[in-house]
Amino acid sequence: MKVTVVGAGAVGASCAEYIAIKDFCSEVVLLDIKEGYAEGKAMDLMQTASLNGFDTKITGTTGDYTKTAGSDIVVITSGIPRKPGMTREELIGINAGIVRTVSENLINHSPKAIMIVVSNPMDTMTYLVHKTTSLPKNRIIGMGGALDSARFKYRLAEALNAPISDIDGMVIGGHSDTGMVPLTRLATRNSIPVTKFMSEKRLDQVKEDTKVGGATLTKLLGTSAWYAPGAAVSALVQAIACDQKKMFPCSTYLEGEYGLNDICIGAPVILGRNGVERVVEMELTKDELDHMHTSAEGVSKTNGLLNL
Ligand code: LAC
Repeated sequence: MKVTVVGAGAVGASCAEYIAIKDFCSEVVLLDIKEGYAEGKAMDLMQTASLNGFDTKITGTTGDYTKTAGSDIVVITSGIPRKPGMTREELIGINAGIVRTVSENLINHSPKAIMIVVSNPMDTMTYLVHKTTSLPKNRIIGMGGALDSARFKYRLAEALNAPISDIDGMVIGGHSDTGMVPLTRLATRNSIPVTKFMSEKRLDQVKEDTKVGGATLTKLLGTSAWYAPGAAVSALVQAIACDQKKMFPCSTYLEGEYGLNDICIGAPVILGRNGVERVVEMELTKDELDHMHTSAEGVSKTNGLLNL
């Protein structure tokens, strides 16, 4: 199994590190345009191999896509991250051009690859890849919901003073501060609804903290987060590489599911060797569905800024 990660910045490098540590791939290629940067990160990571006990071979290249040839899975993290006070949507101008070029280069060298899009605004970048490449929809996956759900579980565990392993929960909708739909009604602690343990007010706070999870970190760090995004991507890569048939909310092209059409937005999917093997349609309340549709309006508005 060969995986290419484009962008050797913090998210790309963390993603490569987590993939390597789990040791399920033979090869990870890091590619960046900054001279020597990917090579340096790859070498540094390889020098952790004997300490962390993995055999995955990590290599780096400055812009040479021939080194990525024959990848089974490709991840796009390239583009600029947001600065404090910025929304993900504000990155569209620069990142759309980058994602378009990178995705074309990747497919030229790995025509069978499954593509994971991480660059922001992620739902719109996933849509861009869908519109500008010939890839079938099952092979284009946007990473957002897996990360937002991890942040949701973190906030729930914090509010309940419970270990995270007790918590289950999911965030669907767009990967934006206003577009996320944390499904509080369905979140549980060991299969008991969290609503049994928390006031509505506290749960609303959890919801709000989850939605601005990325923005909170950007304010603290001065740039966007990388550990949880890297871990979330590595989980998706593993689900595909190991044909796990695991369910994650991911940005996926919808054709009627949840009453939405011609949009990439977060919905639960089954991930396996063929990428998105199924979109799971669950029953939502009217309120949840309304939120999903409002979220979709926001994503569509950003999609409208693309020069397709
Ligand atoms: C975040 C970025 C990856 O939410 O969108 O941290």
